[in-house]
Amino acid sequence: MSVSATSVDQLTRVLPAASASRPSFTHRGIAFGCDYNPEQWDPRVWREDVALMARAGVDLVAINIFGWASLQGPDGLFHFDDLDEVIDLLHAHGIRVNLGTGTASPPPWLTTRHPEILPMMEDGTRRYPGGRQAWCPSSPVFRAAALELVEAVAARYGEHPAVAIWHVSNELGCHNPYCHCEVSAAAFRDWLRSRYITIDALNAAWGTSFWSQRYYDWAEILTPRATLSTYNPGQMLDYRRFSSDALRDYFRAEAEVIRRHSTLPVTTNFMVTAHVRALDYWSWADDVDIVANDHYLDHRLDAPTAELSFAADLTRGLAGGEPWLLMEHSTGAVNWQPVNVAKTPGEMMRNSLSHVARGSDGICFFQWRASLQGAEKFHSALLPHSGTQSGAWKDVLELGRAVKALEEVRGSRVVADVAVLFSWGAWWATDAENRPSAAISYLDQVHAVYRGLRDAGVTVDIVKPDSDLTRYRLVVVPCLHLVSDAEAARVEEAVAAGAHALITFYSGIVDQDDRVRPGGYPGAWRDMLGMRVEEFAPVLPGTTLALDSGARAAMWSERIVATDAEVVDRFADGPSAGLPAITHRTAANGPGSGDAWYLATMLDEPSLAALISRIVAAAGITPHPGAGADVEVVVRQSADGRTWRFVINHTKDFVEVPGHGFELLTGEPVERRLTVPPGAVRVLREEAQR
Ligand code: GAL
Repeated sequence: MSVSATSVDQLTRVLPAASASRPSFTHRGIAFGCDYNPEQWDPRVWREDVALMARAGVDLVAINIFGWASLQGPDGLFHFDDLDEVIDLLHAHGIRVNLGTGTASPPPWLTTRHPEILPMMEDGTRRYPGGRQAWCPSSPVFRAAALELVEAVAARYGEHPAVAIWHVSNELGCHNPYCHCEVSAAAFRDWLRSRYITIDALNAAWGTSFWSQRYYDWAEILTPRATLSTYNPGQMLDYRRFSSDALRDYFRAEAEVIRRHSTLPVTTNFMVTAHVRALDYWSWADDVDIVANDHYLDHRLDAPTAELSFAADLTRGLAGGEPWLLMEHSTGAVNWQPVNVAKTPGEMMRNSLSHVARGSDGICFFQWRASLQGAEKFHSALLPHSGTQSGAWKDVLELGRAVKALEEVRGSRVVADVAVLFSWGAWWATDAENRPSAAISYLDQVHAVYRGLRDAGVTVDIVKPDSDLTRYRLVVVPCLHLVSDAEAARVEEAVAAGAHALITFYSGIVDQDDRVRPGGYPGAWRDMLGMRVEEFAPVLPGTTLALDSGARAAMWSERIVATDAEVVDRFADGPSAGLPAITHRTAANGPGSGDAWYLATMLDEPSLAALISRIVAAAGITPHPGAGADVEVVVRQSADGRTWRFVINHTKDFVEVPGHGFELLTGEPVERRLTVPPGAVRVLREEAQR
């Protein structure tokens, strides 16, 4: 395969997002699905597979995710016989296809012929094939080869009646978000030119008068390759933005090919999880016809189940509040954590329905049948190594029945009065090098306030900082270190419209170029808050801080002057002893104005919970009765006003919550009190009590 100069130009141009009118994903009820890798199995097994899928109620199957090496050999010819057969088999069993473009991992013949597509690390070393996703996001050679495959797949199956949705590549940027090869550096320079137009504007944005870094020519600019000392933070921030855009542009290129052959929705699986932070999904969300996410419980975290709720709420935020699809999760253990913890009885059901409660209209898994070989042979699956004579398989059958019983919930939306602001840009800037305390982790701070709200029994929307926030009663801004003027104004507008806002430490410090806002922190909001921070005073790991109220804290304190705010609590000890730790200001700009709260330290869990409960009550928000850390309660509402109350009981005890109506999973009427057995889930279609 060769790539001409003209096609390189065409392939690397910046592609626009698709138009606003987009196909929607239609399905009967909540989709129940999985990844299926028939390439790994003998055709005799395929027949057994589809029959078992039908028995379990599986109705949406993702195939051809890693199909490239099977579909196309070194002679460039395509062999579709097997894929034809699998698609026809699924279709004959009434199972819809989530069709992969097959481009996730290049076959060895391609990387042997074109080693220049292999990604280059910051130290100039290449990463080699043998794993997966070994390709440079900006490589025109890779793109040409991949689009040739997409063209062939889309042309062949674009109108096949089995196909329901398109699945572009797989978890774009999971392993290859950053590349430092010459092609990437040139693409980075192009991206910078269109952002800054002049080299002077770039120098101003990156603050290159520092450390003799001034650029005179675009050609002098590199990607941030390994340096001897700290990187230029502006360069690093823009490189992250560029890297996210480069993969999004790649997504657009595949989507453009598919849309020439098919009117079906096109998506790709996002990774809104704890450890993948390379892609700014707010800027991707408009490109997919339906937002889809992969989520795996992460047992390296303190509260994996709360993180699941957070990821689901963030995914709904990306979908603009519309239903979304859980494209992958696991029936049991994964294979990539240090210790891969099996799910406890009922946990797969609870995890699955927590996603549905929080807006997913589909429950899909990785993968259908557990592999016998390869890197993922110890990853759980719907059909485990032990086969159908297993507890795991019984659980799958039970989940299939539950998903069917929830059919009527499809299309409804989650109801929330609280917004939490989340930003990938702030994440990148917060966790950068050389800052007041390396102990601050953006995601930990976001998780802490999210968990406080979840434990207080309130449902939260996770939103983009430039969203209209005026409809919320409470807006929480955790550690939003980097914020533009326009984004900061959105919080002020919400407060002016009567909302309460809680801003936590290290927020509002720098603008979109990572430039400090002078005059006292947090420059973005100090007037609204009626206070200013004169100096940060973090404390060493292991040091605890006490507040006058008895609240406990750690990691961080600040030297605050309250200019126009009530001091709610003060530091009782530590480097800021006697100074404000929590402030509160009622905005004075007219009737209906809200309140602005500031938290200047990292409270421990009970102290943060107490503060959050106080602010929730002050904002006039009523928590869901019975909800708490181990009992999730979330309400979905349809356009015609019907509501479904999901109650997920993570405890070992019976739980009762007030409720009246019809319970979908047991098929029983409920009078006044809904009882949820230990570890179980109930979904109540609510009716007015006569
Ligand atoms: C996802 C990926 C799947 C599989 C799964 C295992 O990241 O999309 O292909 O590897 O993880 O947990």
